[in-house]
Amino acid sequence: MDRRIVVTRSVPESALDVLRTAGEVRVCGQDRPLEVAELHEAVRGADAIVSMLHDRVDDAVADAAGPGLRIVANVAVGYDNVDVAALSRRGIAVTNTPGVLVDATADLAFGLLLSVTRRLGEGERLLRARQPWSFHLGFMLGTGLQGKTLGIVGLGEIGQAVARRARAFGMRIAYTGRRRAAAEVETELDARYLAQDDLLRESDVVSLHCPLTEQTRHLIGERALGLMKPSAVLVNTSRGPVVDERALATALHEGRIAGAALDVFEREPAVEPALLELDNVALAPHLGSATIETRTAMAELAARNVAAVLGGNAPVTPVAG
Ligand code: DGY
Repeated sequence: MDRRIVVTRSVPESALDVLRTAGEVRVCGQDRPLEVAELHEAVRGADAIVSMLHDRVDDAVADAAGPGLRIVANVAVGYDNVDVAALSRRGIAVTNTPGVLVDATADLAFGLLLSVTRRLGEGERLLRARQPWSFHLGFMLGTGLQGKTLGIVGLGEIGQAVARRARAFGMRIAYTGRRRAAAEVETELDARYLAQDDLLRESDVVSLHCPLTEQTRHLIGERALGLMKPSAVLVNTSRGPVVDERALATALHEGRIAGAALDVFEREPAVEPALLELDNVALAPHLGSATIETRTAMAELAARNVAAVLGGNAPVTPVAG
């Protein structure tokens, strides 16, 4: 019998080609995330689910799919939307898409950082509002990055890629995380390991590259923001709930930190309204991996995971269960 593969949102044709080698593919056609009930209905009888980061995949989804479900292939490196423990208990493989989105995400983090430190969004808004302006030496001054300290929370692949870009901009690198990076990585990036509070106190830019877990939820809240320099900028391209958005908006409004660059939000697609009022915030709608090349590679990797598992082989990029 043909295997049944359910894809919760459209993916590039090249990924579908790979999936079609493994079974009959059904792509849910909505141009929006599936509601919970729709997801449960869609996965009925599935052997494989290709999920997106906004799909909550848990015991209820596994129940809805039925006993044939063998793999959930999440098209994202983050998999906080998947209850890995619950699926693993049932012997269902869970995979993600590491590696292929590292450069795109690091580029976006750096672009957003420049956008806030050089006031690019603010400048563009001024021009589009057809406001009068003229060049003068004090006009719309931002801050430079050279010689400043970038504090990275989570020196994994993406954190390292951001650090490499920062080094090219003449920044110094500090990092914190659950464990120290390999000595070669520290040497290559000339990166100092600091305890989290020290990193927050010393950094001119704090960039978040940790996964969302119970330990990192609201890692950056009132207390952490209170440790940061008034001149510091926060960059978040990881997951929205790592930051307490309301506390951030208040800190920015009160000038307790200088700026923020945000690609991800606590209640996506909603954005904390107070943030939208602030000029010292650069915003993007979760575009970290949004290049044609990267999104194609992510979907193809997810498809290869499905093909491997349905073909009786080990997944290519399993997450730790
Ligand atoms: C991921 O892969 O986790 C990203 O957030 C997608 O852009």
